[in-house]
Amino acid sequence: MARNIDGTEISRVMRAEMAQQVAELLAQGIIPGLSVVLVGNNPASQAYVASKTRACEALGMRGQTLNLPEEVSQEELFSVIDRLNQDPAVHGILVQLPLPAHLPYKAVLEHIDPDKDVDGFHPRNAGLAFVGDPRAFIPCTPAGILEMLRRENISTRGRHVVIVGRSLIVSKPLASLLMAPGPDATVTLTHRHTPDLASFTRQADILIVAVGKQNLITRDMVKPGVVVIDVGQNRVEDPGSARGFRMVGDVDFDGVSQVAEAITPVPGGVGPMTITMLLANTLQAARQSAQARK
Ligand code: GUN
Repeated sequence: MARNIDGTEISRVMRAEMAQQVAELLAQGIIPGLSVVLVGNNPASQAYVASKTRACEALGMRGQTLNLPEEVSQEELFSVIDRLNQDPAVHGILVQLPLPAHLPYKAVLEHIDPDKDVDGFHPRNAGLAFVGDPRAFIPCTPAGILEMLRRENISTRGRHVVIVGRSLIVSKPLASLLMAPGPDATVTLTHRHTPDLASFTRQADILIVAVGKQNLITRDMVKPGVVVIDVGQNRVEDPGSARGFRMVGDVDFDGVSQVAEAITPVPGGVGPMTITMLLANTLQAARQSAQARK
């Protein structure tokens, strides 16, 4: 049976380390602050955003949510972002995705001050990360996955990492980070138009799945001893649970656990790590802004 990679426990350790760093900034009169912009009432987004700001406050940082109506215009959204860009008490800005269809998300992400872009989605940060510049904010989910592998002593050097998915949020930055000097992995990127997906996933020493499709990866699609990182967050109806649903990943956990060496559960795997790295990026932004003002 596979070992569980416990993202909740790794996050607990990391957040305790960060609380110390927050205390040092507080002693200098700096309260690291994150502002999250949420457009509309998508229940999953509301839940994610609430856990992000709660995590900030638990560390002694300031976490603020600005909830805008679904019909907000691009101009109104831009003026909210302008205000946050100019506010010295706001170190990190995150616009929760997905946005309603009438809002061009790329233009919205470009409107965020790159020095406050704790998501790392602004083209300047994406470019800096691509060329390996340490000033880049690294997107939180890829950063969390790398940190999780590092803390679990799972080496990527020379190993074949197969990524399923090609998103801007996870897969593209992850591929570029993993192939860089240091991680030194051999990376294969696959996606929904890849024919015979299983012929690729079976080659993986480390398989990372970020698609959003329940049971996409089954036991017959992996080789024995694989390490599996499941980024999927899918709601499935569960009349027996208090909320009426439960969360599952993209991987058939029970089946794949029988052959894998290690696997991240959903929930309690990648999810908490993503929020932990958001806290880390907000701390980095607060520190950089303090240095810039010296
Ligand atoms: N929606 C799902 N994941 C993310 C994320 O990491 N950042 C933002 N802004 N939106 C998301």
